[in-house]
Amino acid sequence: MTATTKIGIGTSLSRVDGAEKVTGKAKYAAEYNVPGLLYGVTVSARIAKGRITHLEENAARAVPGVVDIVSHLNRPKQAWLDHSWKDELGIPGEPFKAFHDDRILFAGQPIAVVIAETFEAARFAASLVEVAYEEEPHNIDFTASLAEKFTPSYFKRRNTYHPPKKRGDPDTAFANATLKLEAEYHLATEHHNPMEMHASTVEWHGDGSITVYDKIQGSQGDQAYLASAFGLGKKNVRVVNAYVGGGFGSGLRPQWQVQVAVMAAIHLERSVRVVMTRAQMFTHVHRPECTYSIRLGAEHTGKLSAMINDATTSTSRFENNMEDIVVWGMMNYDCPNASGEYTIAPRDTYTSADMRAPGAATGMTLFEIAIDEMAYKAKVDPLEFRLINYSEVDSMNETPFTSKALREAYREGAERFGWEKRSPQPRSMREGRELIGWGVATGMWDAQFSKTAARAVLTADGRLEVASATSDIGTGTYTVMTLVAADTLGLAPEQITARLGDSDLPTAPVEGGSWAAASTGAAVQLACQSVAKRLLKAAEKMEDKPLHGAKSIDDLVFADGAMALKSDPSRRVAITEVMTAAGLDRIEVEETASPGIGGMISMAQKSRNTHSAIFCEVRVDEELNQVRVTRVVSAVAAGRIINPKTARSQILGGVVMGIGMALHEETFADKALGRWMNHNYAEYHVPAHADIEDIDVIFVDEPDPEVTPLGVKGLGEIGIVGTAAAVANAIYHATGKRVRQLPVTIDKLLPP
Ligand code: MOS
Repeated sequence: MTATTKIGIGTSLSRVDGAEKVTGKAKYAAEYNVPGLLYGVTVSARIAKGRITHLEENAARAVPGVVDIVSHLNRPKQAWLDHSWKDELGIPGEPFKAFHDDRILFAGQPIAVVIAETFEAARFAASLVEVAYEEEPHNIDFTASLAEKFTPSYFKRRNTYHPPKKRGDPDTAFANATLKLEAEYHLATEHHNPMEMHASTVEWHGDGSITVYDKIQGSQGDQAYLASAFGLGKKNVRVVNAYVGGGFGSGLRPQWQVQVAVMAAIHLERSVRVVMTRAQMFTHVHRPECTYSIRLGAEHTGKLSAMINDATTSTSRFENNMEDIVVWGMMNYDCPNASGEYTIAPRDTYTSADMRAPGAATGMTLFEIAIDEMAYKAKVDPLEFRLINYSEVDSMNETPFTSKALREAYREGAERFGWEKRSPQPRSMREGRELIGWGVATGMWDAQFSKTAARAVLTADGRLEVASATSDIGTGTYTVMTLVAADTLGLAPEQITARLGDSDLPTAPVEGGSWAAASTGAAVQLACQSVAKRLLKAAEKMEDKPLHGAKSIDDLVFADGAMALKSDPSRRVAITEVMTAAGLDRIEVEETASPGIGGMISMAQKSRNTHSAIFCEVRVDEELNQVRVTRVVSAVAAGRIINPKTARSQILGGVVMGIGMALHEETFADKALGRWMNHNYAEYHVPAHADIEDIDVIFVDEPDPEVTPLGVKGLGEIGIVGTAAAVANAIYHATGKRVRQLPVTIDKLLPP
């Protein structure tokens, strides 16, 4: 008998947590109703820079139900050294410490929290707190901040690091090039806007310990941070983030609401919840604004001869947030002469942060608009142009890729889209009053792998629990863990429970960088393989020796709740039977997957990346200049796909966010007040259903036994990279108007 019913890696499985989510059973940070809970509402600074000279609290304190107000005047003890405030993904600079002193560093900064028996009382009372300030000059305008830009000192961050590496003589090559492009590209400030707002429910246990239900992408980093910043000791802090309503990077680092909630809880020795309002969500992390100057030189054939990159992104006055902006084109294209410069510019806002594919979503996208421009200059089809300059290796680091099926992605994407029917001239395709444009772009992201542990517990009833402190920020980690376990031990998904999102579980990093599926998947596989080995040992002791001849688990097939000999599948035994025969109640193992296991190559030897080809159709109303993205084909080369269904969802989400970047998303700076102006969903538009039409996702075949133990590369971010360029390039093809500033809003398409 062969394993025909096996559900495992490669099976399209609906989210195992789907029912919990749609029925409201899944609890998010602000939904844990612990006994005696108090509600904290923060007072936000109205100025961008200066000092608090007076807090008038009397009116607020007089509101019935108000318990206390905590501010810099009466806050509990905080760690003094900045070092004690470094979080898992901490960056150079001075980490933000709420209520630390009277300084105001950005508009919307939490300066006091009103704590009351009800949310309503807290909210009303917070509106009565009067703050007097001593204002200082501020600047939140990016263009003005460029006067203060500087070169950040690079440091090794996570396991990905690509300082721009010069090659050849780009200046001379550019000067001598037949075709030249020199242009400035720009991406607006964007905010993450996850559906779930940042929230923390702190449960005070009365023995000095707390449980924090937090909106965070990593429980253990948060635990260590809170323990250190507030001197609590790690054993006294447990962080639970079983469900996270979207992150996109906004929850990579602990945010101010958790500082405020923990301080309030410590101060009152009570349980307290603090939730950011949607408007307050605009007072913290955001994708940095970027200006990117690109010079490209090419021969008349379209072969690139020079690429000179110079980009600046925004950061805060107190921390240096850095991104890899300029390296993507240098890695992706075959061009003998290339260089990159990168600077950051400080402004009086909260620190910018990683947001879905940080660096690449900005840098690769803007670069792909320049590539499109050069293709037109060379009078070469934009897809053909990319193939002329195709690089089999990482051209910047001069290293081979573990795999790069971008050529297949271009081919399969073009075929699905019908690219060959494209008429090359701009403004040459139309239907009625709509101009039609077809554009293409390339995407690229890192395929990362982080040390992660997982535990597997198999019980005599044949049920399996797999657990890791990893998170599921909507990406499908629960489902990935379930599928990998089902695959390894041949159990049905219904027999498996995946647990995550709790700092008590086996050690795992923050979920980010698209590494969770590869890393948690590998850990779960290792743990399940250990269980399998113990089962084999137990089976060897059975009297009838059902698996006689099996030397290792490699000689076995696990399917349908049973283990069988590969060489003779009729020799099989149910897992429960083995457990019973051996008198085992449970088998419990914990394993750690780390870079280096399973023949994993190191970063220095090979480059590890995902790639994509995005094809886009836009229709532009010629009179109104309204743009509709009517079709997108995203062809992705991301190694092995664990779950085609949730994988497709990740790409769909990335494409939708890319459409937002292309057409809608922009946070405007009120230069006079130093605040973000459009801090609400009426004025900051994220794509709605009406903006989204046909999106098609292709996963090209890309076997890669080297990149990670499962051959998985990760999918959370690649979907957004390059998408906005495909849209902008399609808009150029439709209208003949080149817009180099994203988003391409209607005003930019109007005749001058
Ligand atoms: Mo992602 S920006 O690493 O959550």
